[in-house]
Amino acid sequence: MSNLALKGGNPVRTGPFHEWPVCDRREEEAVLAVLRSKKWWRFAFGQGVNLAEPEEGERSQVACFQEEFAEYHDCRYGIAAANGTGTLEMGIRAMNLEVGDEIIVPAYTYVASATSILQNNAVPIFVDIDPDTYNLDPDKIEAAITARTRAIMVVHFGGQPVDFDKILPLAEKHGLPVLEDAAHAHGCEWKGRKAGSFGLFGSFSFQASKNMTAGEGGIICSNNQEIAAECDSLMWAGRKTGRPWYEFHRLGWNYRMTEIQAAILRIQLQRLAEQNSVREKNALCLSGKLKEFPGISPLRHDRRVTNHGYHIYMFRYNEKLTGLSRDNFIRALAAEGIPASGGYTFPLYKTPLFLNKKFINGSFPLGTKYHEDIDYGAFAEKCPVAEKACSSEAVWLPQNVLLGNENDMNDVVSAVQKVLENKNEIE
Ligand SMILES: Cc1ncc(COP(=O)(O)O)c(C=O)c1O
Repeated sequence: MSNLALKGGNPVRTGPFHEWPVCDRREEEAVLAVLRSKKWWRFAFGQGVNLAEPEEGERSQVACFQEEFAEYHDCRYGIAAANGTGTLEMGIRAMNLEVGDEIIVPAYTYVASATSILQNNAVPIFVDIDPDTYNLDPDKIEAAITARTRAIMVVHFGGQPVDFDKILPLAEKHGLPVLEDAAHAHGCEWKGRKAGSFGLFGSFSFQASKNMTAGEGGIICSNNQEIAAECDSLMWAGRKTGRPWYEFHRLGWNYRMTEIQAAILRIQLQRLAEQNSVREKNALCLSGKLKEFPGISPLRHDRRVTNHGYHIYMFRYNEKLTGLSRDNFIRALAAEGIPASGGYTFPLYKTPLFLNKKFINGSFPLGTKYHEDIDYGAFAEKCPVAEKACSSEAVWLPQNVLLGNENDMNDVVSAVQKVLENKNEIE
């Protein structure tokens, strides 16, 4: 009988990796305190629109969390919301774009990075990623800039901040703001400064898999007072600081976060620095060992990244060098007890939403006519790196794998070794 677990052998590992989310008495007490207070909603404190909140008196959990998170991320303002899709939408809406304006966005990202643009009647223009980091490739941005480009959205993919040394001067040269989708990048740093604080805004997610979570949640941070005030109004359904409660000024939404979410997140924030450093230490250990296998190349950890959150640990897998397909490799690893995946099935422009241009109806987004000329499938030619990452190259491990110890890393390495050594048994 084969040694491989896929063929009935004993798996390298039968137990789970580190628990996620991490939660103990501190979160429990914080939630209980909110429950018992009966103040489950921020307005119960009479603290309406964020920027006008009183300094004194009992404060809402959301108000405190906004301040604590923004300050930790080198930002003056933070507006907490129901999720990270909403915060991206709010940030773009606050920019007051014209119908048909374009925003550059990486081809390798979660759908919300691009749908937040569509939801604002604008057009996402996909740009390829850097093969060493899977972040937006700074050298490919300029060719995508047109007279209608209004911003460059970057995604700090997997928790590694983008190359700001190249992107900021480029954006400045073209007079374009940088928008940071920092959904993966809590506490991450580029040269000692927090991701989310470089651009016009930084948008974070607290969905269940993220490095800080309350099950769901999001926050948009900014150092720009106008953008922050607009987002605050949008989050409050279009209300305005200092104006009557039932007076609405903008086409907003109910993007609000609950007191219970914020109470959990205040504790999660206290855990973040320590967890990021454990992940980073384990990731470096794992990369050091995995790079010894021909056909396996961990993504580059840029030396200028002074804090990498490793929301996703990724390596590049070369099917030609290993002689085993990426998908079979992953199947065999999973059988050995390693929760690896290939990540996105295809780059975002190939998802049916874009290929078929199935937006809400024939007239939305209002810029639909600007999409008529775009063949989203044709981005494939311009994005060979994203294409390859999806079809055969990327291997992802979730962040909780990195929260354990060196034995856990050794299990991953042993499983990789076992699968590659027995590859001929896998059809
Ligand atoms: C890159 C990226 N942007 C935005 C989001 C949206 O966040 P949420 O799930 O909180 O709406 C996610 C969530 O998976 C993400 O991965």
